[in-house]
Amino acid sequence: MIKKVPAISLYVHWPFCLAKCPYCDFNSHVATDIDTKSWQQALVTDLERQAENTYQQLEIESGKIELKSVFFGGGTPSLMPPAIIEALLTKAAGLFTIDPDIEITAEANPTSAETAKLKGFYGAGINRLSLGVQSLRESGLQFLGREHSAKDALTALEEAAKLFPRWSADLIYGLPEQSEEDWRAQLEEIILYAPSHLSCYQLTIEPGTQFYTRHKKGERLTGDADNIADLYLLTETILKEKGLSAYEISNYAKQGEASQHNLNYWQTGNWLGIGPGAHGRLTTKNGRYNRINRRSPSGWLESINTAQGGMDIDALEKPEDYFNEYWMMGLRLTSGVKWPETAKFGNTALQLNPKWLEAFIKEGWLNANDAGLSTTLEGRLRLDSILSHLLD
Ligand SMILES: C[S@@+](CC[C@H](N)C(=O)[O-])C[C@H]1O[C@@H](n2cnc3c(N)ncnc32)[C@H](O)[C@@H]1O
Ligand code: SF4
Repeated sequence: MIKKVPAISLYVHWPFCLAKCPYCDFNSHVATDIDTKSWQQALVTDLERQAENTYQQLEIESGKIELKSVFFGGGTPSLMPPAIIEALLTKAAGLFTIDPDIEITAEANPTSAETAKLKGFYGAGINRLSLGVQSLRESGLQFLGREHSAKDALTALEEAAKLFPRWSADLIYGLPEQSEEDWRAQLEEIILYAPSHLSCYQLTIEPGTQFYTRHKKGERLTGDADNIADLYLLTETILKEKGLSAYEISNYAKQGEASQHNLNYWQTGNWLGIGPGAHGRLTTKNGRYNRINRRSPSGWLESINTAQGGMDIDALEKPEDYFNEYWMMGLRLTSGVKWPETAKFGNTALQLNPKWLEAFIKEGWLNANDAGLSTTLEGRLRLDSILSHLLD
């Protein structure tokens, strides 16, 4: 019997969008005719089934696991009927003990129709909104294929500020020819509307996207490496002046405003992932389980009422995969990650490449002390390369 009752998080995936953005490789699909009743029933069934399975795997009495965060992601969850959100949160309250400070986030797109629904989301139980602004320039929004204007985004942020105790904005930087002046001006403007939390993502060209095809044909779709590095360093400087510190490679928050849900991923915690393509992780006395739902929305919906349910994979992670995930996630955090106990991953021979570890500490890209390992700002600039060497 496991003595300590673990806390858990819940991710809910809504896979539909109004249009497919050319840079996006998320499990998101354009659909107009959605049978929302079936979707509600299927998501609730997935939640029930996974919760039951979790109680069994952890050998814990039903109802005793604490739910500490919920995240509705996508796709575009702001297209969900608020009634589905309410039904899922009501079901979750029956399955888990609810942390009194539970964080319940929804991602939202800032089209006017979706902004009009925000009140319904607040009423359904959402207490944190993450708004996909992406750019405050019409040219940038057009380049990114977005369905809203900058004015729409600012209006949505004003509405979010009226309704939700916590809210955040996503921006994408590193567009072709983006100047430092332009990025500084965008950050200085957005901070007036999202003063406590910002996610600033470097534009990446992901396989399978329209941008990838165009990039392969020779089109230049991002800034050059030096320009992007300058924009990254500038982000840290400007946001620090405004009282937001980098707590993760792309996330900046005032004290106490970090996303608890995302911190749980980066700290390799436990979470359930429901809906098509959602991933979950569960650490048990036998090791860490990796659960992956069927990716196709129609395939997942059809399979949910079968004996197997919507899950394609529910398997113990290999020690080396757990080890890699621990470092890849943990080193994204400014606070870094603890030196793990030798038995943690189920293979005591696993270790970071000692030659590269020493070299990166000397270079000033990593900080090591008795407690653990963390990246410096210069280290976070080149984290992918650092990880590929450390995990070699
Ligand atoms: C699940 S996605 C989208 C959420 C929401 N549907 C939207 O579009 O605002 C979450 C965030 O990932 C970021 N993102 C997605 N694809 C990206 C890419 N290729 N490069 C950089 N950021 C990306 C965007 O900032 C986006 O807001
Ligand atoms: S970026 Fe958002 S709106 Fe665009 S396709 Fe991806 S999930 Fe959908």
